[in-house]
Amino acid sequence: MIQTITWHIETATTKQDEASLSSQLQEAAALLRSGGTVAFPTETVYGLGADATNTDAVQKIFAAKGRPSDNPLIVHIADKKQLTSFVHPYSDLAERLMDAFWPGPLTIVLPVREGALSPLVTAGLSTVGVRMPDNNTALSLIDLSGRPIAAPSANRSGRPSPTLAAHVAEDLAGRIDGIVDGGAAGVGLESTVVELVELAGREGIRILRPGGVTLEALREAVPGTPIDSAASAVMNDEAPRSPGMKYTHYAPKGQMILVQGDAQAVIAYINEQAAAAKERGESTGVLSFEERASAYRADLVLSCGSELELNEGAHLLYDALRRFDAANIECIWAEACSEQGIGVALMNRMVKAAGNTVVQV
Ligand code: TXA
Ligand code: MG
Repeated sequence: MIQTITWHIETATTKQDEASLSSQLQEAAALLRSGGTVAFPTETVYGLGADATNTDAVQKIFAAKGRPSDNPLIVHIADKKQLTSFVHPYSDLAERLMDAFWPGPLTIVLPVREGALSPLVTAGLSTVGVRMPDNNTALSLIDLSGRPIAAPSANRSGRPSPTLAAHVAEDLAGRIDGIVDGGAAGVGLESTVVELVELAGREGIRILRPGGVTLEALREAVPGTPIDSAASAVMNDEAPRSPGMKYTHYAPKGQMILVQGDAQAVIAYINEQAAAAKERGESTGVLSFEERASAYRADLVLSCGSELELNEGAHLLYDALRRFDAANIECIWAEACSEQGIGVALMNRMVKAAGNTVVQV
């Protein structure tokens, strides 16, 4: 039986409210301590948490998600002090990144202490990805549980990551022990995953998965540090070191095609293709930016906000993909966006959702 705990810190206006909310969060933390699985909000997407030191608990995450066992989990902490129990001493660069971005959407891959975490968390690797989420509900829950919390995105494997508690329920109701509903996740795309490697003879940063922390922000935080951002290149993340990158991700049920090119040519191409699909009796959808949304003719046209404000697009993408599914859309065309700032992560997820089908017009 799924237990839904509604925890909106912002809405706790009276002392009584606060007390009842706090007791609910205590309940969720107790579930985690006793080996249960609890979904909770973070600033990126909802995570499905379990005690990272308890193999039976972590096993439940893989079972609930239908996740391949060779794909390691990110461990979430509420306080840097938790790190010493499960990672080896780390470099100054790692420390500087933590100070600059935690709490926040940056996952840092660090050497793990043998035996400190369930081996399922690391999928047999000698490293572990760690982050401190920038969300008070998540931080309180982790803190109350007193454990490092392993948490992948709280979706069934291959589905878009959940940005609302309702998305979690849609995918995992009956498969997990609880959901903490903290409203909409802010960023809307997952964290940036980095590892620290030797680049050009010195310690540098390799981006394994682009995400909430942009390349520009990394450059600004640690000026002069070499950064390998090859995994950010949209067409080039077939052979990354992050095991999760090899799996199909974020796929809507319909077939999605990403269309890149001059605005007028993109509109003409998509409308022509959508008309042809309609002729064949297929349902059609377009994922566009606000600037051109009214130009499309399809069964369902969704706007990801302005193309000049891609944070909004990041925030809306996964919900849009789920809406196409809910409407049983069979053919989806999506407008590409600029690969600047958060646009790198947004394009990365759209290319994945499209199963790498990108048309240049
Ligand atoms: O924003 C996020 O990161 C969300 C929230 C819930 O924190 N979590 C998330 O987890 O996206 P997940 O499991 O969906 O993605 C984790 C990614 C995978 O691509 C995995 O392969 C990679 O991180 N990863 C985890 N541990 C790693 C390690 N030791 N070395 C390399 N990559 C690792
Ligand atoms: Mg995921």
